[in-house]
Amino acid sequence: MICKKRPFIYAIANQKGGVGKTTTALTLASSLSILEQNVLLIDIDPQASLTNHLAIEPEMVENSIGSLLVSETSDIEQFIIKKYKIKGGGGIDIIPSNINLAKIESNLSASNGGGLQLKEKLKYLPDYYDYVIIDSSPALSVLLISAIAACDGIIIPVVADYLSVRGVELLIKTIQKVENALNVKRDYKLLITMFDKRTNSSLKSLNYFKNNYKENSFDNFINADTKFKDASFIKKPLTYYEVRSRGSIDYLLIAREILSASAKGGE
Ligand SMILES: Nc1ncnc2c1ncn2[C@@H]1O[C@H](COP(=O)(O)OP(=O)(O)O)[C@@H](O)[C@H]1O
Ligand SMILES: [Mg+2]
Repeated sequence: MICKKRPFIYAIANQKGGVGKTTTALTLASSLSILEQNVLLIDIDPQASLTNHLAIEPEMVENSIGSLLVSETSDIEQFIIKKYKIKGGGGIDIIPSNINLAKIESNLSASNGGGLQLKEKLKYLPDYYDYVIIDSSPALSVLLISAIAACDGIIIPVVADYLSVRGVELLIKTIQKVENALNVKRDYKLLITMFDKRTNSSLKSLNYFKNNYKENSFDNFINADTKFKDASFIKKPLTYYEVRSRGSIDYLLIAREILSASAKGGE
């Protein structure tokens, strides 16, 4: 019997804003696409930064993630925008978001199986995708729970500073609550972002996270690179136009870690 290929689904999660979630979703997707993977991005943040970052005007979007979650349809493809196809490589598509998602957020938590709608919809994905990457909103909300419920693994971007420690502990407790409620297990990995080797706090917190989350950290980390801000300004993934920049190289290394873990069956 031929089994339908299922993509590996990552949720990018941290209830704190400004830690590099959207940058990670986008730059990891572009790195994986260069490594010949087809990636579907899902923007589940009402602020729609990821949608914006791919030069899609959120207000112009009709078939958004919000409408998918409340619809009865199993035809998920009508919600997907095809965005990049790399010559001889993979590509990036996206299910975009807009502010309507904020309006339906309370309906989602009140309805039966609150938080399970996304998981249910992703059963109908075409078998074309290798990876799905969900960019979540900065709150411990039903939207974050939906992402955790729908995924196979969680990437937690953390800024390399000491104030991040408590936020990470809180998030891991939330993940455990979802695991218990749904009777599932979710692997998570910390990804240090905005690392600045000139500062003591970056070095100390890198050590702290590497020591305390040894099995749950990527080997590589993401250095601070001002080019990410330029990338959001021109609304393109950094990898696509400055592949040799520090930030691009760092995310390519993470993409390679992900691919080699999957080759070993370790995902
Ligand atoms: N490694 C990095 N170095 C420097 N700036 C970064 C880095 N990663 C992200 N940024 C910038 O930090 C800001 C917040 O990042 P973003 O990915 O939007 O975070 P979040 O989605 O968690 O709110 C953005 O302006 C982004 O360009
Ligand atoms: Mg974001």
